[in-house]
Amino acid sequence: MIGDGGAAKFLIDKLEAEQMLKKEEFIELLDGFDGAFDEYLAQKARAAKQEHYGANVYLRGLIEFTSWCKNDCLYCGIRAGNKNAQRYRLSHEEILKCCRQGHALGFRTFVLQGGEDPFFNDDLMCAIVRSIRLEFEDCAITLSLGERSRQSYQRLFDAGADRYLLRHETANFKHYGALHPKTMSLEKRMRCLWELKEIGYQVGCGFMVESPGQTSECIAEDLMFIKRLEPQMVGIGPFIPHKDTAFAKCRAGTLEKTLMLISVLRLMLPKALLPATTALGSISPLGRELGILHGANVLMPNLSPVGVRKKYMLYDNKICTGEEAAECRRCLQSRMEKIGCSTEPARGDAVGFDRLKALV
Ligand code: SAM
Ligand code: FES
Repeated sequence: MIGDGGAAKFLIDKLEAEQMLKKEEFIELLDGFDGAFDEYLAQKARAAKQEHYGANVYLRGLIEFTSWCKNDCLYCGIRAGNKNAQRYRLSHEEILKCCRQGHALGFRTFVLQGGEDPFFNDDLMCAIVRSIRLEFEDCAITLSLGERSRQSYQRLFDAGADRYLLRHETANFKHYGALHPKTMSLEKRMRCLWELKEIGYQVGCGFMVESPGQTSECIAEDLMFIKRLEPQMVGIGPFIPHKDTAFAKCRAGTLEKTLMLISVLRLMLPKALLPATTALGSISPLGRELGILHGANVLMPNLSPVGVRKKYMLYDNKICTGEEAAECRRCLQSRMEKIGCSTEPARGDAVGFDRLKALV
């Protein structure tokens, strides 16, 4: 039993030494964790990040280019069934304009994220990726477009995309079923992630912390899956309710649990790219700073035109929906400087990722 601090300390030390725990040990750590060991864990996570990435925090320019989605994920504010959601699409030229602005501000990764919008078929998406690749040779292109066919992922990779973010959302089948409509399946989600990896992308999976129905066992299964997949990126952030969803009345995930899990992930995957997400900043004014101090090393400020920001409302009270990109850039730089971190322009690939080896 972890009731006493000795057991928590033992499990944290074991995680640091072996970069993994057994499923029952993760559950024990999660159930027994209280604030007393937060700093002990965070300090180990910071040291692991420092060893591989130093004090730099990578900035990714996030372009939320479509709020149309054919899916109906029960937690999501832009789900197809939400008749109140405001829909927009950025044009090819508007996306390039965001990249130009971002490049001038020092961003060297662009993340194109959107709902699953069939309007952006392979021909159009490949054309967009190709033109970004041609104009910004020194930048990485990250896609987050949801589930597509293997052939589609391959075409986008061949067009010049480097990375792909696709949160698995939960590795527990029953829990997945409670968060998604019957038309979606965890098998397919996982298959997509393995295919992306085989193609040679730097891959990111992830989950929401304290989404409705999530238990410590679910989180332990998430961690086991993540260790098996060995992704280059893991995105976790608190679940936050959206007023037009079935989960409107559910409680948001907590800062403490999210921070603890960022540190756990850093110890499990010391070389991973871990964002301190906008959702974390939305539940607490210093959420992103605390995320970095718990082992995260990536921030994803918004590069989308201010006019559409409020239309990409995944959850209520999302921050940074009114500021210009330059303002967000300045704000984050000063926030990071205050905690002793820098935000120098760099592609910021995962340490040790070898594109050629990934293809073998
Ligand atoms: N369509 C792409 C996909 O499915 O991967 C990318 C867009 S999707 C909106 C990006 C992520 O937002 C999801 O993977 C989910 O984890 C997160 N998200 C959606 N609704 C949320 C909520 N209510 N609270 C916190 N995160 C949420
Ligand atoms: Fe598709 Fe949220 S349901 S992006």
